[in-house]
Parts: sequence; structure tokens; C-alpha cells
Amino acid sequence: MPSGLRDNNLKTSRHPLPPQWTLLGCGALGGVFASLLAQSGQSTRVLLRERHRATLHPGIDFTSLDGHTQLLTIERGFISQPGAIKRLLVMTKASQVVPALTPLIGRLPAGVPIVLLHNGMGIAEQVVQRFPHHPVIAGVTSHGAMQSGHFVFRHTGKGETWLGPVNEAAKAHAYLADELARALGQAGWDEQIRVRQWQKLAINCAINPLTALYKVKNGELSGTRFTDALQQICVEVADVMQAEGLPVSNEDLLRRVMMVVELTADNYSSMYQDMELGRETEIEAITGFLLAKATQYGIAVPVNQGLYQAIKEKQ
Ligand code: NAP
Ligand code: PAF
Repeated sequence: MPSGLRDNNLKTSRHPLPPQWTLLGCGALGGVFASLLAQSGQSTRVLLRERHRATLHPGIDFTSLDGHTQLLTIERGFISQPGAIKRLLVMTKASQVVPALTPLIGRLPAGVPIVLLHNGMGIAEQVVQRFPHHPVIAGVTSHGAMQSGHFVFRHTGKGETWLGPVNEAAKAHAYLADELARALGQAGWDEQIRVRQWQKLAINCAINPLTALYKVKNGELSGTRFTDALQQICVEVADVMQAEGLPVSNEDLLRRVMMVVELTADNYSSMYQDMELGRETEIEAITGFLLAKATQYGIAVPVNQGLYQAIKEKQ
């Protein structure tokens, strides 16, 4: 089918058993993951906030990387009546994770794995505290996803996804990465997921505040006016990571940052977009997390501190 044409062949996924995957939140990344999971033949349901009940759309309009658009019917539920859940993928922004999960405390059967895919850090520990009888898994993904309208989603970039255990109980759930890989093309399990989370945090600490404050695309960070700031951000993040006992050098972090700057040169970062649209940014879970760790270890992080304050003032 030529690119952009709609496939009116509605795909339904009604199952008497709990769906393989329940996604909590269906924004840009949730909509794209739900679509890819459904397309791979895995039964999928999304749980939405109550306020969406009155505005239900008959289907999810999904455009894949090759430009092919399809209308998918994916089961939808609401937090007040979550139904049976086999495994839960939390697809909200960092600051929304705990509020979104709170109504499920005491209602999610013990042992159901909870997978977190937000950017930033520090949230998983709060989830473990509130769900002590659940495997909690952290994920890092570099897929690109966009929402351009009411249940209209586009997969904008193929990336890597890694999952790994946050608590002991999660170690038995490595198979989840294999099942996600069937939908995403690739997904891996890494027992040291914390290292990958920190590497992603370094990229977000470097790219997000600078692009949001200077109102530039990611690619512009390769210009000389940002060289010193990027180097200093990476030195500060590496200092804190080393205090956490993680093997890293500031040169390696900077190399990773510059690689992402190049690969996403034409993109506006999520923080830039959040600021432009007047939405809350993820600064707390990104630079805010770094600052909290730096304080814990008595490490000075003046450049990150300055960026944090500047974003908080403008937000
Ligand atoms: P988003 O478009 O804002 O989606 C978040 C979704 O969570 C919204 O649809 C929101 O629903 C929903 N939500 C919030 N609170 C909820 C609650 N209490 N119950 C149920 N649903 C709730 O954000 P996103 O771009 O998908 O990003 C999600 C996370 O993935 C972020 O941490 C982001 O940094 C990370 N990430 C995104 C991308 C990407 O390309 N987009 C790539 C990698 C990582 P409402 O409509 O009700 O507000
Ligand atoms: O938050 C974002 O925008 C993305 O994580 C990244 C990697 C910085 C690219 O824009």
C-alpha cells in the first residue's frame, strides 16, 4: 500500500485471558509501543485516565517507520476498572509514574511485573517501596515516537531497548526482553541496567537543558559555543557515577553525547518541546536526580546546577 494510505482493515484484539501486555499511559511512546506489540500479534491493552472515557476514538492511527499508516483497534481500559493484568508497562513521563501507579496499589496481584520506560532516574526506587511484592524492571529505550493528534502516533526512529532488574524478584523476568524484541526488532536484558540508565541520564543532562534554554535543535550542540558546557557536564556526571561505583570516563560520556547529537541532529529534544508547549519538563528526574546524588557524595556540579536552576525558572 502506498505510503500514507489508511488500511481500513480494523484489527481487533479481544481476548478472554488477560492481555499479554497492559500499557499504563498511551502518549507518544505508549501509542507506538502498543501499536508495535499489537502488530507483532501480542495481545495488548492500554489503560487511560478517566477523562478520556468521554472522548474515545474508534482506533489508533499508527504510522510506521516506512510511512505505512494503519488503523489499529487496541483494547482500552480505565484506571478505575483495570481488569486482569499479566504484566504492566508504564509509559508515562517520569513525574507521572508514581501518581499513575498509585490507584493500583493493593489491586495489582502480587508477582505481576512492572516495567518502567521513562527517562530520568530515581523513580524505580519509589515504585519498589510502594509495590514490595512485585518484580520491578527498569527500561531504557532510544526509539523515537511522536503523537500528532488524538490517538494519532508515528514511529519516528528505530532504536535500542534494554530492560534489567531493579529488585531481586525481577531477575526471573528476562524473557520479557525477548517478547518485546518480537515487536521492536531488538530488545535486550542487562543485569547492569543501572549503568545504561546512567549513560542515558548523562545524554539527557547534556542535551535536554541546553537545547531547551537556547531553543536549538540537537545538532546545533556540535557548534563550538557549546563545547565547554558539554565537556563540563560530562566531567560532573562522570564524577558522580564514579562515586556510585560505576566504571566510566568523562571522555566516554562525551563521545556518547556527541554521537546522539549527530544521530538526532534534526530533532528538537523532549525538554525543548515540553518548554515550548508549556508542559512540565522531566528536569527533576534528569538533572535533579544528578544533583541529589552529587549532594549525597559532596561533589560539586556547578554547570548542571546552573542548568537546573535556569530550567526551573523558565518552566
Ligand atoms: P507523553 O506523550 O506525554 O505520554 C505520557 C502519557 O502518559 C500521556 O498520554 C498521559 O495521558 C499518560 N499519563 C499521565 N498520567 C497518567 C495516569 N495517571 N494514568 C494514565 N496515563 C497517564 O510522553 P512520551 O513522549 O510518550 O514519553 C513517555 C516517557 O518515555 C518519558 O519519560 C520520555 O522521556 C520517554 N521517552 C520518550 C520517547 C519519545 O520518542 N517520545 C523516547 C524515549 C523515551 P494524558 O493524555 O491523560 O495526559
Ligand atoms: O529526551 C530526548 O529528547 C531524547 O532522550 C534525546 C536522546 C536527548 C534526543 O532528543
